Amino acid sequence: MAVTVASAPAKIILFGEHAVVYGRPAIAVPISQVRAEAIVEDSLMHGIKLRAPDLGRESWLTEAQDSDPFARAVQIVLETAPVSRLPDLTITVRSTIPIASGLGSGAAMAAAVIRSLAQHLGLTDLATDQQVSALCYQVERLLHGTPSGIDNTVVAYERPVFFVRQEPSNRIEPFTVATPLHMLVADTGEVSMTRDVVEDVGRRWQKDPEKFEQLFNSCGRVADEARMAIRKGDPKRVGRLMQENQVYLREMTVSSTRLEQLIAAAILAGALGAKLSGAGRGGNMIALVDKENVDKVRNRLLSAGAKSVLISVLT
Ligand code: PMV
Repeated sequence: MAVTVASAPAKIILFGEHAVVYGRPAIAVPISQVRAEAIVEDSLMHGIKLRAPDLGRESWLTEAQDSDPFARAVQIVLETAPVSRLPDLTITVRSTIPIASGLGSGAAMAAAVIRSLAQHLGLTDLATDQQVSALCYQVERLLHGTPSGIDNTVVAYERPVFFVRQEPSNRIEPFTVATPLHMLVADTGEVSMTRDVVEDVGRRWQKDPEKFEQLFNSCGRVADEARMAIRKGDPKRVGRLMQENQVYLREMTVSSTRLEQLIAAAILAGALGAKLSGAGRGGNMIALVDKENVDKVRNRLLSAGAKSVLISVLT
């Protein structure tokens, strides 16, 4: 019996979260060592069974709620390429990506499900990076409300991207990294729902559009400058720009005490720059460090209370 496996990486936003929702540029990169995987198998039982053993979950597609992103990812593929008879399948998802912590676990799960199911059904047109990203975006809308599209893009393409949300189609530019950037990704352990934070920023923007438009412009400028600094191979400048971006995120009220503690610990231990990554109010922070400082900053983050610290080298 046929089995098809596909996976997708975690991601971090290096620059421009929140502002990206409002059309400003942002930079995101994949973190390939933590991934979501989907396994599609032909089944002897009638219907499509969805399994998420890590979450202790098993249900039939027909029983799933509309708000279930796993089921939605499957339905989106079936709706986009209608088949005369629904196949009999078991779809299993597994993930090593921490959930609700700014690493794009939902997007990675959806991308893995969409790609593996499209491949399994021979729908090669739907299994391209571009299509996986577009279908994944529809699932993201369930999770986020008004996602910018950056998460689905970076997990589907699995490449660093400079991204601008725009009509009729988003600007997606992969970019070169002149000098490897050593990044630490530390988890505060605080769970934060992207949708809630994005909605709250939206309310604050409506109350004080002038202030928020200025903050978003500043974040966009920082993302532009960061792309140049990454291209030129100037990690010190990238670090300073991270610090600057964090000032704007703090003003947007999306930082938290835990995030600030970890950011301060990283800087004290010699990081070139540090900021929250993703929606904020919990989740992850990232620190850019010189190669020889990786262990020192990592240990400092752990003793400052980080629940876990991933090391990722952007090349
Ligand atoms: O929390 P995450 O990692 O899913 O990132 C959200 C990024 C935002 O800019 C806050 C929202 C978005 O859709 O881009």
